[in-house]
Amino acid sequence: MSGDLARPDAPLSLRVHAMTYEAEAVLGVELRPERAGELLPGFGAGAHIDLHLPGGLRRSYSLTDEPGERRRYRIAVHRAVDSRGGSRWMHESLRPGAVLAASGPRNNFPLTESAARSVFIAGGIGITPILAMIRRLVALGRPWDLHYATRTRAHAAFVEPLHELARQGGGRLDLRHDREPGGRPLDLAAIVRELPQDAHVYCCGPAGMLKAFELATAHLAPERVHVEHFAGKEPAAAGGGFRVKLHRSGRTLEVAPGQTILDCLVAAGVEPMWSCREGVCGTCETRVLDGVPDHRDLVLTPDEQARNDRMMVCCSGARSATLVLDL
Ligand code: FES
Repeated sequence: MSGDLARPDAPLSLRVHAMTYEAEAVLGVELRPERAGELLPGFGAGAHIDLHLPGGLRRSYSLTDEPGERRRYRIAVHRAVDSRGGSRWMHESLRPGAVLAASGPRNNFPLTESAARSVFIAGGIGITPILAMIRRLVALGRPWDLHYATRTRAHAAFVEPLHELARQGGGRLDLRHDREPGGRPLDLAAIVRELPQDAHVYCCGPAGMLKAFELATAHLAPERVHVEHFAGKEPAAAGGGFRVKLHRSGRTLEVAPGQTILDCLVAAGVEPMWSCREGVCGTCETRVLDGVPDHRDLVLTPDEQARNDRMMVCCSGARSATLVLDL
């Protein structure tokens, strides 16, 4: 009998159905519900899931399919040179048939479907959420441009489906390989300078690219600019020296020097949801009922941070002596 796994935040049990070679150091992984016939929670373009890996590791991966796909989640895993274990384990030990726990999907990088034109800038594995966005725009018949940079041709994943999507109309593809003879890096300032007035612009890629993008787009209206971060920019607030009151349980905890709020909660046996621990995935978002957080995340917009009514407890601290959290 067909079931539905669509309850938000319910843990998912996913079976690795297939693994594919997508590019140098990039594996494609197709995940399906462990129980055949069940449907997965729906998602919007730009969404990610968090996979729970051995050793307590949790890693976020963008979904590459067009929204509406409920039978499978497809992700791509880049083997990072400086892997802290997640991508290395996925490349060396994960096999079809394995079952993984997961949470999500969540979307910190949503697509503005109504934009007159969408311009995407992708670096390396940053293509994954953008692939889902382009699939969506092609389904809607809306125009897009993609500037996609990788070190070499061999490092470029999903080139065939991208060409196919461009052939279906409405899309322009600009592929760059800066480590190949004659290869040139993307000129982000020029791309931004030439943006049509009403275009929205998106960037996902390595930290250096994101920094250059943020500089190049600083003058644009924030609602036209969209960035997906893989890693935090600032160190987590771990100075301690403040109290956290847990409104629902009535407990008060002292956050000690060297601890984040999440460390303190976990040590006290409170297990909020978390994944990246770097303020980029949004999993640990917690309502703030009183007090002033010291925001260090890249999930909330500056306006959202200024409201001080929610925070990422994995990385953000306190500017007030006490924070009251809805936990
Ligand atoms: Fe990812 Fe806190 S665990 S934002």
